[in-house]
Amino acid sequence: MKNDEILYWLQNNDEHELQKLWKSADDIRSLYVGSQVHLRGLIEFSNHCRRKCAYCGINTNNNNISRYRMSEQEILNCAGDAVDYGYGTVVLQSGEDIGVKTEWLAKIIQKIKSKTPLAVTLSVGERSFKDLETWKKSGADRYLLRFETSDPVLYQRIHPSLPGQKSNRFILLEQLKKLDYEVGSGVMIGIPGQTYETLAKDLSLFKYLNLDMIGVGPYIPHPDTKLVKQPQFINKKEQVPNTELMTYKVVALTRILCPEANIPSTTALATLNIKQGRELGLERGANVVMPNITPPQYRKLYEIYPAKACLQETTEQCHTCMKNRILYLGRETGTGPGNRKHQVL
Ligand code: 5AD
Ligand code: FES
Repeated sequence: MKNDEILYWLQNNDEHELQKLWKSADDIRSLYVGSQVHLRGLIEFSNHCRRKCAYCGINTNNNNISRYRMSEQEILNCAGDAVDYGYGTVVLQSGEDIGVKTEWLAKIIQKIKSKTPLAVTLSVGERSFKDLETWKKSGADRYLLRFETSDPVLYQRIHPSLPGQKSNRFILLEQLKKLDYEVGSGVMIGIPGQTYETLAKDLSLFKYLNLDMIGVGPYIPHPDTKLVKQPQFINKKEQVPNTELMTYKVVALTRILCPEANIPSTTALATLNIKQGRELGLERGANVVMPNITPPQYRKLYEIYPAKACLQETTEQCHTCMKNRILYLGRETGTGPGNRKHQVL
């Protein structure tokens, strides 16, 4: 799909026309990754973060939240829950927490891998090559690191570098590939300053980077962030809206561009439409959901954006709810780790 066509769809709001986009994405999803919806149990194990991201509620400057880091045993208990619920993967996610020591996390990964059949995905921010290598050797299977936007100026504005260390997530994504991780990335939709041109470029990059997993979700303003206090104003005609509809378009285009990728219907999308967001994502290209299995007392402290879906529910409730939603769509819950399927069609 050429850049012009991507732009055409991003700027098209004709309901009738968009049906074609949804159908095309759903057909490609069905052909390449089938009807299984893979469940990844999300463990938000620490909300400490050294970064000052202008969009994110757990940025280091936010003093309005209390910080936590789960213990090894608490994390292993969550992994046990994931096995009991029949999930194939756990995602260990945290802020960029320097208190997460290389060896500490390595030991947890080893324990999960030796005691369970789970695939382990890490989502712990920008770390050294040595850390990434150690964790791969310990058994980690996958790594998520969204590049957030392909516009370098916008990126620096919303994601300030650490002193003396220019942040370049594309280099890290390359390192992860080299280390043989399954690699996931993605962007937020509708960040102030994001234009249609930029978003079209983001989408082409997904394909160019040959990503195994791609997560996209709407930007949701958080009151304790810089981006809310000092928003960027750009030409209204060029600004991508952070809407539900725009998110579906990006999910659908992602599927068409990257037919084999594992694509989640994200919690951010469910937050915009609690009744149907997750379902519509699954019917417009997505094939993964990520039930939150973080203990409830910590879950509410992992507030990267406000009013996150499923905040009040217990792990058990969320599990049952998601399973039913998948079955109601006429799809099946995935079995096994749910790796990327490489296909020659
Ligand atoms: N709204 C939506 N998504 C957000 N993320 C962080 N803050 C927000 C927000 N305010 C996303 C980022 C990050 C992922 C873990 O969550 O894309 O990579
Ligand atoms: Fe969490 Fe429904 S998916 S409560």
